[in-house]
Amino acid sequence: MKRELTYALSFLVLLPSSILFFSFVYPLDRQFLSRFALLASHIGEECDHSIGRWVWDETYPQQLYDENCPFLDPGFRCRQNGRRDEGYRKWRWQPYGCDIPRFNASDLLERGRNGRIVFAGDSVGRNQWESFLCMLAKGVSNTSEIYEVNGNPITKHKGYLAMRFQEYNMTVEYYRTPFLCIIGRPPLNSSNQVRRTIKLDQLHWYSTRWVGADVLIFNSGHWWNSDKTIKSSTYFQEGGKVNMTMNVKEAFRRSLETWKSWALHNLDPRRSFVFFRGFSSVHYWNGTWNGGGLCDVETEPENDPKRIETEPFHNIFISRVVKQMQYGSWKVHFLNITYLSVLRKDGHPSKYREPGTPPGAPEDCSHWCLPGVPDTWNELLYAQLLSEKFGFNNSFPESG
Ligand SMILES: *[C@@H]1O[C@H](CO)[C@@H](O)[C@H](O)[C@H]1NC(C)=O
Ligand SMILES: *[C@@H]1O[C@H](CO)[C@@H](O)[C@H](O)[C@H]1NC(C)=O
Ligand SMILES: *[C@@H]1O[C@H](CO)[C@@H](O)[C@H](O)[C@H]1NC(C)=O
Ligand SMILES: *[C@@H]1O[C@H](CO)[C@@H](O)[C@H](O)[C@H]1NC(C)=O
Ligand SMILES: *[C@@H]1O[C@H](CO)[C@@H](O)[C@H](O)[C@H]1NC(C)=O
Ligand SMILES: *[C@@H]1O[C@H](CO)[C@@H](O)[C@H](O)[C@H]1NC(C)=O
Ligand SMILES: *[C@@H]1O[C@H](CO)[C@@H](O)[C@H](O)[C@H]1NC(C)=O
Ligand SMILES: *[C@@H]1O[C@H](CO)[C@@H](O)[C@H](O)[C@H]1NC(C)=O
Repeated sequence: MKRELTYALSFLVLLPSSILFFSFVYPLDRQFLSRFALLASHIGEECDHSIGRWVWDETYPQQLYDENCPFLDPGFRCRQNGRRDEGYRKWRWQPYGCDIPRFNASDLLERGRNGRIVFAGDSVGRNQWESFLCMLAKGVSNTSEIYEVNGNPITKHKGYLAMRFQEYNMTVEYYRTPFLCIIGRPPLNSSNQVRRTIKLDQLHWYSTRWVGADVLIFNSGHWWNSDKTIKSSTYFQEGGKVNMTMNVKEAFRRSLETWKSWALHNLDPRRSFVFFRGFSSVHYWNGTWNGGGLCDVETEPENDPKRIETEPFHNIFISRVVKQMQYGSWKVHFLNITYLSVLRKDGHPSKYREPGTPPGAPEDCSHWCLPGVPDTWNELLYAQLLSEKFGFNNSFPESG
C-alpha cells in the first residue's frame, strides 16, 4: 500500500517533468503531448487552459462584443477594412478536460471596483488591452461613462492611455514599453556605432505608475530580435557600460531579472495579481514582416498540431522567472497563450489593416483582428482571476 502511494507520487512528480523533457526533445509530437496533458489536467484540481483545440461555434463572438465597440483601433477592425470571410470570429478555444468559465463583464467590474488594471508591453499588448476594454464595456449600460482620463483618442501613437470606468471608479491602463526597460541615448564615451542603448538594469520610468495596481499584465518579446536592436545600432547597457558583444537572448533574460526584482520590491504580494503573457505568434509566409510576408490567404486555424513550431525562447525565460516568484502570498502567473495563438494563422489583419494603408504596404500578420484571438487570452486571464478569488479580499486591504 505504502509502496503504491510512493509510486503514485513519483508518477505525479515525473509527469510534468517528462512533459517538459519531451517538449524539448520531441517538440513535434503534439498528439502524444496532448494526451499527457489531458491526463495531467484530470489529476490536479487546476486545469491547464493552454492546451486544447479551436472549435467552431456560431454563437461565439456575439456574447462578447462587435466591431462597433468604440475602443477599437481602426487597424484591428478587419471587417470594416474589407475582410469578407467571417469564419475567423467563430472559433472558440476549448481546453482539453475542462471548459473556460464564461466571461462575465459585470462580475469582473464588480470585483475590480475602485481598482486599477494595468497592461504594459508592446503593441500586441495594446491589442489585448483594447479587446479587454470592449469585453468589459459590455457590463456598462452607458459607454459614454467610459473615457480616457486625459481625453486622448485611442491610437497607436500614444505611449500611455488610461480608460476610466466611472461607475466603478476603476481604470484600465495601457503603457507602451516594448523592451520593459529604459531605451535611450548611449553614454557619452561610447563608440559611434552605438545610436541607442537599452538599459537592462533599469525598468522603464513608467513603472513608477504601475505601483499599487490590482492586476498587471506584462508582455515583451517582439522587439527582442537583432533586427530591432543590434542591427539598428541599439546595444545593451548595464551600469553605465555598453556591452558590444551581448546577444539578444542574454539581454532579454537580464531584462526579466530587472523586471522580477522591480516587482518583488515595489508591488504588494497580497494586493496585486501579476501576469506575464507568453509570446504571441506571427504568421508570415513567403517573406518577413518587412519583406513582403503574407497571411491573407488564411481563412482557417491550423488543424495539424504537428506543424507547430517549437517553443520560443522568450517563453522559456519568462516562465522560469515567474516560477521563481511563486512563493509566499505572491500571485504571479505565466499566461501561456502561445500554443493556442500559433494555431490561428487566420486571425491577423493581413491586408485588411488600418484605412489609408497604401496597396503595396506590408501585411500585418503579427497583430490580431478584433473581436478575435486576444479575447481568448482575456478569458484565460479572467479564469485565473476567478480561481484566485480576485476582488473579494484585496479591494480594501487597509480595512480588511
Ligand atoms: C505553454 O503551453 C504549451 C501547450 O500546453 C506547452 O506545450 C508549453 O510547454 C507551455 N510553455 C511553457 C513555458 O510552460
Ligand atoms: C454575472 O455576474 C453577475 C454579478 O456577479 C451576476 O449577477 C450574473 O448572474 C452573472 N451572469 C452570468 C451570465 O453568469
Ligand atoms: C476610488 O478608488 C480610490 C482607490 O483607487 C479610492 O481611494 C477612492 O476613495 C475611491 N472613490 C470612491 C468615490 O469610492
Ligand atoms: C450617458 O452618460 C453621459 C455622460 O455621463 C450622459 O451625458 C448621458 O446623458 C448618458 N446617457 C444616458 C442614456 O443615460
Ligand atoms: C565609459 O565610461 C564608463 C563610466 O565612466 C566606464 O566605466 C567605461 O569603461 C567607459 N567606456 C569606454 C569605452 O571608454
Ligand atoms: C558582455 O556580456 C557577455 C554576456 O552576454 C559577457 O560574457 C561579457 O563578459 C560582457 N562583456 C563585458 C565587457 O562586460
Ligand atoms: C508562397 O510562394 C510559393 C512559390 O512562389 C507559392 O506556391 C505559394 O502559394 C505561396 N504561398 C502563399 C501563402 O502565398
Ligand atoms: C477573505 O478574508 C476572510 C476573512 O479575513 C477569510 O476568512 C477568507 O479565507 C479570505 N478569502 C480569501 C480568498 O483569501
